[in-house]
Order: sequence, then C-alpha cells, then structure tokens
Amino acid sequence: MNTNPLSPTDLIREIDLQQDDDLAIPRYEGSALTLENEAAPEVATGETRSNPGAHCIALMGASGGVGVTSLCVQLAYDLAIQSQSKIQRTARVKEPRVCVIDLDFEGGSCAHHLDLIPNLSMSDLMQSADRIDRAFTSSLVSTHSSGIDLLAAPNTLGGNDMANPLAVVALLDNICQIYDHVIIDVPRYWRPWNMAAIGGSDKFAIVTDLTIPSLQLARTRMGAIEEKIGHQLRAEIILNKYERRSFRNALRQKDAETALQRSVNATICIDVDTLREAINCGEPTGAVRPESRYVKDVRRLQKILIKQPESKNQAAA
Ligand SMILES: Nc1ncnc2c1ncn2[C@@H]1O[C@H](COP(=O)(O)OP(=O)(O)OP(=O)(O)O)[C@@H](O)[C@H]1O
Ligand SMILES: [Mg+2]
Repeated sequence: MNTNPLSPTDLIREIDLQQDDDLAIPRYEGSALTLENEAAPEVATGETRSNPGAHCIALMGASGGVGVTSLCVQLAYDLAIQSQSKIQRTARVKEPRVCVIDLDFEGGSCAHHLDLIPNLSMSDLMQSADRIDRAFTSSLVSTHSSGIDLLAAPNTLGGNDMANPLAVVALLDNICQIYDHVIIDVPRYWRPWNMAAIGGSDKFAIVTDLTIPSLQLARTRMGAIEEKIGHQLRAEIILNKYERRSFRNALRQKDAETALQRSVNATICIDVDTLREAINCGEPTGAVRPESRYVKDVRRLQKILIKQPESKNQAAA
C-alpha cells in the first residue's frame, strides 16, 4: 500500500519547473494559475481508494525504446487472463478489471500495441477537472478483446503541453477507483502529472536496457524522482532486453548494478521475434506466443510488482 503522506496535488506543486535540469521539464503555461485557484482532485492512494483491492503500477523508461509500452501491455494482459481463469474456477460474479493508461498524449503507443482506437480526446484533457467523474471516465476507455481497458488519447502535436494537469489527475483518480489493477505508461519526458502518477502508485519501476547511456539515465532519474517524492518511494529496476549469453564487450547484470548502485529487481529476456510479431499484430505478446520466454519473464515480474497479501499465519508471525 502506498504510504506517501503527500497528496498528488502537493506533489505537482512540489515540481519546480526551473530547477529540474536533469529531467528537462517542459513548462505548462496554465499550471501555476490552475493549481493555485482550482480545488484540485487527488489521485487516490492504496489506502484511500473506494476499491480497496486496487493496485496501481507505474512504469517509466530510462531512455527511448527500452520496452516500457510492451511491458505495460503484457503485464495488463497477464493480469486480465489470470483473473478470468480465477473467475471461472470460483464462479465469482464480479470481474476484476484491468486498465492501462497511456500518459503520453503526443507520442504514446499503447493503442497501437493493442490495435485499439483511443477514446480520450484532446478536449477531454483540456477541460476543467471538476467536470470529470467516474461515469464520464468510464465512457472514455477502449476495450480489448482480452478484457483490458485502455485510457489513451490520439497522438496530437503539442498534446502534452495542451493537456490540463488537473484534468489528467482527475482521470487517474477515477480510474484508480473503478479498476482492480491499473498499469500506467509514464512518459520519460517530464510532465506535471508524472509526479502525481508515480506518487499515487503502489509500485513504481524504471525500465532500462543494458547500455551505458540508459543505465546512467536510469540512475539520474531514479535519484531525482526519489528525492522529489521522498524516501517512502523506492524505484524498482527492470532490466529489459537482457541477453543471458555473454558476448564480448557486453555488459552483465552486475555491471548494471554497479552503474545503478542498486540491485536489479527483475530481468526480461530479449526476444526480438516474439515482440516483433506481437507489435505488428497489435496484440499483447501473451496472445501471440503464450509459451515464450518473454511472457514467462513478465509473469515473474508481475509477481514481484504485485505483492500477494500476507496469509493470516504470516501476519501473525
Ligand atoms: N524484451 C524485448 N526483446 C526484444 N525486443 C523488445 C523487447 N522489449 C521491447 N522490444 C522492442 O523494442 C521496441 C520498443 O518497444 P516499446 O515501444 O515497448 O518501448 P518504449 O520504451 O515504450 O518506447 P518509447 O520510448 O518510444 O515509448 C519495439 O520494437 C519492441 O518490439
Ligand atoms: Mg512507449
């Protein structure tokens, strides 16, 4: 459960657009006025959500193309498939629901990965936050045949600068109240809503590959974000496109850990054929090659990111 004492609105206010040289934060022209004058909604944390089982994971890339969107989509697919099989076994009436949120309104690709038409529009993102409620938010998702819902907008030139951060936070808040599992694809270029999305999530992970530039960016980014949010947040590290075989001049996991000064929490194998097939079919990798190593690695990652509730015996011990 998220124990961050700062509300996401506080976290947005904490962002000093001038000082964050490391993260190249773009200026949102309307933010100062809007954040000061409007009663801002908050992203519910694990403790305050009306849906107590809701679990929210935010993933961000250290650099471009490291595989964040592919991971978000496969994590969501795996959760959806697992919940469906549980429902069949236990004949539960309520279906646990999984939503992927693409927070990049200019260069997001979750909709392409799932071959869905995004339902959120730029005007939805530019409106006042107090017009956004649960019913309205529910009407903005697109649904994949596997049962995953997607909240995404069509890519618009300048879309990230035009969106009202408070409207984005209101959408996040509502999604967290509606769904059981929320997976957020957080853009690596800093946006006013990134801090809210990360701070309101139960788990936050930075995805990197095994290259020096990516590892260095991961370390800088991890340090800056943890400093902003506070020590309650500890970023998990996911090493994607990981080669198990050793090549000359290739880095190994221990090199990554030295560069990051932190342990790697999960590795995901490189699997070019599977990923290429999935992306070109517009399907999650699990739907295309369920027995692939990539799918198995993502299932292991899912278990790391979604800590199972302690059994009564464990809690008592
Ligand atoms: N484990 C992997 N093995 C092989 N190829 C991969 C793997 N993960 C992702 N890819 C490939 O890397 C490319 C980038 O993937 P993806 O779009 O998921 O990355 P991203 O981090 O979301 O990129 P962006 O920075 O553009 O948002 C895609 O062609 C994808 O198929
Ligand atoms: Mg992406």
